[in-house]
Amino acid sequence: MSRTVYVNGEYLPEEDAKISIFDRGFLFADAIYEVCSVIDGRLIDFEGHFQRLERSSGELDLNLPASRDEILEIHRELVRLNGIQEGLVYMQISRGSADRDFVFPKDSKPTIVLFTQQIPLQEMIDRPKGIRVISIDDLRWARRDIKTVQLLYPSMCKMMAKKAGADDAWLIQDGCVTEGTSNNAYIVTKSGTIVTRQLSNDILHGVTRAAVLRLAREAQMQVEERPFTIEEAQNASEAFITSATNFATSVVSVDGIAIGSGKPGPVTARLREIYAEECRRQAI
Ligand code: PDD
Repeated sequence: MSRTVYVNGEYLPEEDAKISIFDRGFLFADAIYEVCSVIDGRLIDFEGHFQRLERSSGELDLNLPASRDEILEIHRELVRLNGIQEGLVYMQISRGSADRDFVFPKDSKPTIVLFTQQIPLQEMIDRPKGIRVISIDDLRWARRDIKTVQLLYPSMCKMMAKKAGADDAWLIQDGCVTEGTSNNAYIVTKSGTIVTRQLSNDILHGVTRAAVLRLAREAQMQVEERPFTIEEAQNASEAFITSATNFATSVVSVDGIAIGSGKPGPVTARLREIYAEECRRQAI
């Protein structure tokens, strides 16, 4: 069935939606994006995603073409028009189109595109699976804190993982894990401490990460924000990832070595539960 999508002020059937071949998102990956999950037909942590969008746009000197309220309204309208109960809203904003030039054009009009995808989030919450990851050198650029659409290397890493019979990759810099290809990475030590890399330009500042760490602290769990190695992960009692579309998902093996029992663990299950509960309460 054809979706209704949003392009530069218009709601259109997906087959009629068009942008210029000169769009800088297409030519230079000169674009930023956000993925906001939907549960019960409502948006999860819209504010967190909007704040990160503002930060990404500021870092790239890219003017947002719409206000917070307008962007929220577009999200809601697309959820309504497409009857999304569970899924996501993808939003991409590029610097717009101009003759191909490395220099940013002065007066280009940003391109804004949004579309929805249906995903069975509830099933993921109710019947969580564990994923297997492999480690791969982190060869991405050094500004991973900006959520740009330069996703070719993460995409290559996912393909390498699949080829190796795994589900995803954890990226390694100077011997430590930065994050997953499209998620933040965590371990739970044998003494029950949740460890994840501290915020810096090395990783994306996950919206789910912020919520899960806050909820973990509120639940009196120990949290340490520091780098960890693959060896530490292999000796941990649990490992997991977070992202808007994965909530908290267990990692059951790293480079073929089982983590803990080799099954999704109780700390991850508890975090997923309290996070899902919070999402239901806060979604707008
Ligand atoms: N990815 N790290 C990277 C590199 C990511 O691409 C993402 C999100 C995250 C988690 O961020 P958040 O919790 O805000 O979703 C961490 C999105 C979901 C994607 O590209 O589909």
